[in-house]
Amino acid sequence: MKRIPVWFDTDLGVDDAVALLTLWRLPELELRGISAVAGNAELCHTFENARNVCHLAGIDVPVYPGAEHPLFVPLRTAPLVHGKNGVGEVELAPSPAPRETKPAWDALYDAAKAAGGELQVIAVGPLTNLATAFGKYPDLKTLIRRILIMGGAAKGGNVTPAAEFNIYGDPHAAQMVFRSGVPVVMCGLDVTMRAYLTPEEVESIGAYGTPVCRFVRDSNQLALAFFERTDGPGLCCHDTCPVMYLAHPELFTGEEAGVYVETRGALTLGKTVTDIWSDKQFPDRHVFVVLDVDRDAFAAKVQELLRTY
Ligand code: BDR
Ligand code: CA
Repeated sequence: MKRIPVWFDTDLGVDDAVALLTLWRLPELELRGISAVAGNAELCHTFENARNVCHLAGIDVPVYPGAEHPLFVPLRTAPLVHGKNGVGEVELAPSPAPRETKPAWDALYDAAKAAGGELQVIAVGPLTNLATAFGKYPDLKTLIRRILIMGGAAKGGNVTPAAEFNIYGDPHAAQMVFRSGVPVVMCGLDVTMRAYLTPEEVESIGAYGTPVCRFVRDSNQLALAFFERTDGPGLCCHDTCPVMYLAHPELFTGEEAGVYVETRGALTLGKTVTDIWSDKQFPDRHVFVVLDVDRDAFAAKVQELLRTY
Protein backbone atom coordinates (compact mmCIF):
# COMPACT_ATOMS: atom_id res chain seq x y z
CA MET A 1 0.00 0.00 0.00
CA LYS A 2 1.25 3.49 -0.87
CA ARG A 3 1.07 5.46 2.36
CA ILE A 4 0.13 9.15 2.41
CA PRO A 5 2.91 11.37 3.82
CA VAL A 6 1.41 13.46 6.62
CA TRP A 7 2.38 16.43 8.78
CA PHE A 8 0.52 16.94 12.09
CA ASP A 9 0.23 20.48 13.49
CA THR A 10 -1.27 20.55 16.98
CA ASP A 11 -1.96 22.55 20.15
CA LEU A 12 -1.71 19.24 21.94
CA GLY A 13 -4.69 18.95 24.25
CA VAL A 14 -6.78 15.93 25.12
CA ASP A 15 -8.57 15.40 21.81
CA ASP A 16 -5.39 16.22 19.89
CA ALA A 17 -3.74 13.34 21.77
CA VAL A 18 -6.46 10.91 20.67
CA ALA A 19 -6.03 12.17 17.09
CA LEU A 20 -2.26 11.63 17.18
CA LEU A 21 -2.59 8.17 18.71
CA THR A 22 -5.16 7.22 16.07
CA LEU A 23 -3.08 8.66 13.24
CA TRP A 24 -0.04 6.64 14.28
CA ARG A 25 -1.98 3.38 14.05
CA LEU A 26 -3.61 4.03 10.66
CA PRO A 27 -1.66 2.02 8.06
CA GLU A 28 -2.80 4.37 5.25
CA LEU A 29 -0.85 7.30 6.75
CA GLU A 30 2.87 7.91 7.17
CA LEU A 31 3.61 10.55 9.80
CA ARG A 32 6.63 12.63 8.76
CA GLY A 33 6.67 15.32 11.46
CA ILE A 34 4.75 17.09 14.21
CA SER A 35 4.65 20.79 15.03
CA ALA A 36 3.28 22.36 18.19
CA VAL A 37 1.42 25.65 18.48
CA ALA A 38 -0.09 27.58 21.39
CA GLY A 39 -3.84 27.11 21.75
CA ASN A 40 -5.43 24.75 24.24
CA ALA A 41 -2.50 25.66 26.51
CA GLU A 42 0.68 27.74 26.24
CA LEU A 43 3.33 26.47 23.82
CA CYS A 44 5.57 25.35 26.70
CA HIS A 45 2.83 22.81 27.53
CA THR A 46 1.67 21.84 24.03
CA PHE A 47 5.24 21.25 22.82
CA GLU A 48 6.11 19.07 25.83
CA ASN A 49 2.74 17.28 25.62
CA ALA A 50 3.37 16.33 22.00
CA ARG A 51 6.85 15.07 22.90
CA ASN A 52 5.58 13.17 25.94
CA VAL A 53 2.63 11.53 24.17
CA CYS A 54 5.08 10.37 21.48
CA HIS A 55 7.31 8.93 24.19
CA LEU A 56 4.37 7.19 25.91
CA ALA A 57 3.13 5.63 22.66
CA GLY A 58 6.48 4.87 21.01
CA ILE A 59 5.85 7.39 18.22
CA ASP A 60 9.28 7.91 16.76
CA VAL A 61 8.74 11.21 14.92
CA PRO A 62 10.36 14.63 15.53
CA VAL A 63 8.32 17.34 17.26
CA TYR A 64 9.07 20.98 16.40
CA PRO A 65 8.21 24.10 18.40
CA GLY A 66 6.01 26.67 16.69
CA ALA A 67 4.24 29.91 17.53
CA GLU A 68 3.85 31.08 21.12
CA HIS A 69 1.14 33.59 20.21
CA PRO A 70 -1.46 34.16 17.50
CA LEU A 71 -0.58 36.69 14.78
CA PHE A 72 -2.66 39.67 15.94
CA VAL A 73 -5.03 38.63 18.74
CA PRO A 74 -4.13 37.70 22.33
CA LEU A 75 -3.67 34.02 23.19
CA ARG A 76 -6.76 32.34 24.59
CA THR A 77 -6.35 28.89 26.19
CA ALA A 78 -8.98 26.28 27.19
CA PRO A 79 -8.20 25.06 30.73
CA LEU A 80 -11.82 24.09 31.48
CA VAL A 81 -11.66 21.34 28.84
CA HIS A 82 -7.96 20.46 28.69
CA GLY A 83 -6.73 21.40 32.16
CA LYS A 84 -4.04 24.00 32.70
CA ASN A 85 -1.36 21.63 31.40
CA GLY A 86 -3.37 20.67 28.27
CA VAL A 87 -3.63 16.97 29.10
CA GLY A 88 -6.37 17.08 31.71
CA GLU A 89 -3.90 17.50 34.60
CA VAL A 90 -2.44 14.03 33.98
CA GLU A 91 1.31 13.92 34.65
CA LEU A 92 3.07 12.33 31.70
CA ALA A 93 6.60 10.94 31.97
CA PRO A 94 8.97 13.42 30.32
CA SER A 95 10.35 12.39 26.94
CA PRO A 96 14.10 11.79 26.95
CA ALA A 97 14.34 12.72 23.24
CA PRO A 98 16.49 15.77 22.52
CA ARG A 99 14.36 18.90 21.96
CA GLU A 100 14.20 19.96 18.30
CA THR A 101 15.03 23.64 17.91
CA LYS A 102 14.20 24.15 14.24
CA PRO A 103 11.04 26.30 14.08
CA ALA A 104 7.84 24.57 12.96
CA TRP A 105 7.54 26.61 9.72
CA ASP A 106 11.08 25.73 8.58
CA ALA A 107 10.63 22.05 9.44
CA LEU A 108 7.29 21.94 7.61
CA TYR A 109 8.80 23.56 4.52
CA ASP A 110 11.69 21.07 4.49
CA ALA A 111 9.28 18.14 4.88
CA ALA A 112 7.05 19.45 2.08
CA LYS A 113 10.05 19.69 -0.25
CA ALA A 114 11.24 16.21 0.73
CA ALA A 115 7.78 14.75 -0.02
CA GLY A 116 7.90 16.14 -3.57
CA GLY A 117 4.47 17.80 -3.52
CA GLU A 118 2.67 14.87 -1.89
CA LEU A 119 2.58 16.06 1.74
CA GLN A 120 -0.86 16.46 3.32
CA VAL A 121 -1.03 18.65 6.41
CA ILE A 122 -3.45 17.87 9.23
CA ALA A 123 -3.82 20.98 11.40
CA VAL A 124 -5.87 20.71 14.59
CA GLY A 125 -5.05 23.90 16.47
CA PRO A 126 -4.97 27.62 15.66
CA LEU A 127 -3.39 27.98 12.21
CA THR A 128 -0.53 30.28 13.22
CA ASN A 129 2.27 27.89 12.24
CA LEU A 130 0.86 27.32 8.76
CA ALA A 131 0.21 31.00 8.13
CA THR A 132 3.77 31.83 9.23
CA ALA A 133 5.10 29.16 6.88
CA PHE A 134 3.08 30.54 3.93
CA GLY A 135 4.31 34.05 4.74
CA LYS A 136 7.95 33.00 4.88
CA TYR A 137 7.95 30.56 1.93
CA PRO A 138 5.83 31.80 -1.01
CA ASP A 139 6.40 28.53 -2.94
CA LEU A 140 5.07 26.38 -0.08
CA LYS A 141 1.57 26.49 -1.58
CA THR A 142 2.86 24.53 -4.57
CA LEU A 143 4.46 21.90 -2.35
CA ILE A 144 1.51 20.93 -0.13
CA ARG A 145 -1.07 18.63 -1.70
CA ARG A 146 -3.91 19.40 0.73
CA ILE A 147 -4.62 20.82 4.18
CA LEU A 148 -7.12 19.08 6.45
CA ILE A 149 -8.18 21.14 9.41
CA MET A 150 -10.27 20.78 12.51
CA GLY A 151 -11.70 24.24 12.74
CA GLY A 152 -14.67 26.45 12.06
CA ALA A 153 -18.28 25.56 11.54
CA ALA A 154 -20.73 26.14 8.73
CA LYS A 155 -23.33 26.65 11.48
CA GLY A 156 -22.76 28.03 14.98
CA GLY A 157 -19.71 28.12 17.23
CA ASN A 158 -18.36 26.93 20.56
CA VAL A 159 -16.34 29.83 22.02
CA THR A 160 -18.81 32.44 20.77
CA PRO A 161 -22.20 31.95 19.11
CA ALA A 162 -20.43 32.49 15.77
CA ALA A 163 -16.92 31.06 16.14
CA GLU A 164 -15.10 27.83 16.82
CA PHE A 165 -12.05 27.78 19.13
CA ASN A 166 -9.23 27.13 16.63
CA ILE A 167 -10.37 29.78 14.14
CA TYR A 168 -11.27 32.31 16.85
CA GLY A 169 -7.82 31.61 18.33
CA ASP A 170 -6.11 33.06 15.25
CA PRO A 171 -8.62 34.33 12.68
CA HIS A 172 -6.03 36.15 10.56
CA ALA A 173 -3.90 33.02 10.26
CA ALA A 174 -6.99 30.99 9.32
CA GLN A 175 -7.90 33.48 6.61
CA MET A 176 -4.36 33.19 5.17
CA VAL A 177 -4.65 29.41 5.07
CA PHE A 178 -8.09 29.45 3.40
CA ARG A 179 -6.74 31.97 0.86
CA SER A 180 -3.43 30.17 0.24
CA GLY A 181 -4.76 28.40 -2.85
CA VAL A 182 -4.07 24.95 -1.38
CA PRO A 183 -7.20 22.72 -1.31
CA VAL A 184 -8.63 22.59 2.21
CA VAL A 185 -10.82 19.99 3.91
CA MET A 186 -12.64 21.69 6.77
CA CYS A 187 -13.82 19.42 9.58
CA GLY A 188 -15.73 21.95 11.66
CA LEU A 189 -18.18 21.58 14.52
CA ASP A 190 -20.87 20.49 12.03
CA VAL A 191 -19.19 17.09 11.85
CA THR A 192 -16.96 16.99 14.95
CA MET A 193 -19.90 17.35 17.38
CA ARG A 194 -21.29 14.19 15.75
CA ALA A 195 -17.99 12.30 16.08
CA TYR A 196 -18.18 11.40 19.74
CA LEU A 197 -17.47 8.54 22.10
CA THR A 198 -20.04 7.74 24.79
CA PRO A 199 -18.86 7.77 28.43
CA GLU A 200 -19.14 3.95 28.36
CA GLU A 201 -16.90 3.76 25.29
CA VAL A 202 -14.30 6.00 26.96
CA GLU A 203 -14.42 3.75 30.02
CA SER A 204 -13.99 0.63 27.90
CA ILE A 205 -10.93 2.15 26.21
CA GLY A 206 -9.44 2.71 29.69
CA ALA A 207 -10.28 -0.88 30.56
CA TYR A 208 -7.94 -2.14 27.80
CA GLY A 209 -5.45 -1.39 30.57
CA THR A 210 -2.36 -0.31 28.61
CA PRO A 211 -0.59 2.93 29.61
CA VAL A 212 -1.79 4.62 26.38
CA CYS A 213 -5.42 3.57 26.86
CA ARG A 214 -5.44 4.54 30.55
CA PHE A 215 -4.01 7.92 29.54
CA VAL A 216 -6.80 8.41 26.98
CA ARG A 217 -9.47 7.70 29.61
CA ASP A 218 -7.87 9.68 32.43
CA SER A 219 -6.85 12.75 30.44
CA ASN A 220 -10.35 13.07 28.99
CA GLN A 221 -12.27 13.15 32.28
CA LEU A 222 -12.37 16.97 32.48
CA ALA A 223 -13.50 17.17 28.85
CA LEU A 224 -16.17 14.55 29.44
CA ALA A 225 -17.47 16.49 32.45
CA PHE A 226 -17.44 19.68 30.35
CA PHE A 227 -19.49 18.07 27.57
CA GLU A 228 -21.95 16.65 30.15
CA ARG A 229 -22.41 20.12 31.74
CA THR A 230 -23.00 21.71 28.35
CA ASP A 231 -25.39 19.02 27.04
CA GLY A 232 -22.84 17.68 24.55
CA PRO A 233 -23.52 14.30 22.95
CA GLY A 234 -20.51 12.59 24.63
CA LEU A 235 -16.75 13.03 24.29
CA CYS A 236 -16.33 14.86 20.98
CA CYS A 237 -13.26 13.63 19.13
CA HIS A 238 -12.92 16.90 17.21
CA ASP A 239 -9.32 16.48 16.11
CA THR A 240 -9.63 12.83 15.09
CA CYS A 241 -12.04 13.87 12.31
CA PRO A 242 -9.49 15.19 9.77
CA VAL A 243 -7.19 12.26 10.58
CA MET A 244 -9.93 9.72 9.98
CA TYR A 245 -11.19 11.62 6.93
CA LEU A 246 -7.78 11.34 5.30
CA ALA A 247 -7.62 7.57 5.75
CA HIS A 248 -11.37 6.79 5.53
CA PRO A 249 -13.27 9.47 3.61
CA GLU A 250 -16.08 6.97 3.00
CA LEU A 251 -17.21 7.49 6.62
CA PHE A 252 -17.98 11.18 5.96
CA THR A 253 -20.16 13.39 3.79
CA GLY A 254 -19.81 17.06 2.90
CA GLU A 255 -19.94 19.74 0.21
CA GLU A 256 -17.57 21.85 -1.84
CA ALA A 257 -17.83 25.51 -0.82
CA GLY A 258 -16.26 28.92 -0.53
CA VAL A 259 -15.14 29.69 3.02
CA TYR A 260 -14.03 33.13 4.20
CA VAL A 261 -13.04 34.00 7.77
CA GLU A 262 -14.50 37.02 9.53
CA THR A 263 -11.53 39.03 10.84
CA ARG A 264 -13.28 42.26 11.85
CA GLY A 265 -16.78 41.46 13.11
CA ALA A 266 -17.80 42.78 16.53
CA LEU A 267 -20.00 39.74 17.20
CA THR A 268 -18.71 37.40 14.53
CA LEU A 269 -14.89 37.51 14.82
CA GLY A 270 -13.51 34.13 13.72
CA LYS A 271 -16.66 32.94 11.99
CA THR A 272 -16.07 30.72 8.96
CA VAL A 273 -18.60 32.17 6.53
CA THR A 274 -19.58 29.58 3.91
CA ASP A 275 -21.80 29.91 0.86
CA ILE A 276 -23.22 26.39 1.12
CA TRP A 277 -26.77 27.41 1.96
CA SER A 278 -26.80 30.73 0.14
CA ASP A 279 -25.88 31.69 -3.41
CA LYS A 280 -22.70 29.58 -3.85
CA GLN A 281 -21.11 32.67 -5.40
CA PHE A 282 -17.90 33.17 -3.40
CA PRO A 283 -15.11 33.74 -5.94
CA ASP A 284 -12.85 31.10 -4.42
CA ARG A 285 -14.62 27.74 -3.81
CA HIS A 286 -11.91 25.19 -3.08
CA VAL A 287 -12.88 24.06 0.44
CA PHE A 288 -14.54 20.72 1.09
CA VAL A 289 -16.74 21.29 4.14
CA VAL A 290 -17.34 18.01 5.96
CA LEU A 291 -20.84 17.96 7.42
CA ASP A 292 -21.61 14.48 8.73
CA VAL A 293 -20.06 11.19 9.80
CA ASP A 294 -21.18 7.63 10.35
CA ARG A 295 -20.79 7.97 14.14
CA ASP A 296 -20.92 4.27 14.99
CA ALA A 297 -18.35 3.28 12.35
CA PHE A 298 -16.10 6.18 13.42
CA ALA A 299 -16.28 5.27 17.12
CA ALA A 300 -15.68 1.59 16.39
CA LYS A 301 -12.59 2.44 14.31
CA VAL A 302 -11.15 4.73 17.02
CA GLN A 303 -11.61 1.99 19.62
CA GLU A 304 -10.15 -0.69 17.32
CA LEU A 305 -7.03 1.44 16.68
CA LEU A 306 -6.48 2.41 20.32
CA ARG A 307 -6.82 -1.23 21.32
CA THR A 308 -3.64 -2.00 19.35
CA TYR A 309 -1.48 -0.08 21.86
C1 BDR B 1 -11.00 22.46 18.97
O1 BDR B 1 -10.61 23.31 20.05
C2 BDR B 1 -9.69 22.65 20.87
O2 BDR B 1 -9.99 22.89 22.20
C3 BDR B 1 -9.74 21.20 20.51
O3 BDR B 1 -8.47 20.59 20.68
C4 BDR B 1 -10.17 21.20 19.06
O4 BDR B 1 -9.05 21.32 18.21
C5 BDR B 1 -12.52 22.26 19.08
O5 BDR B 1 -13.18 23.49 18.94
CA1 CA C 1 -6.74 20.90 19.00
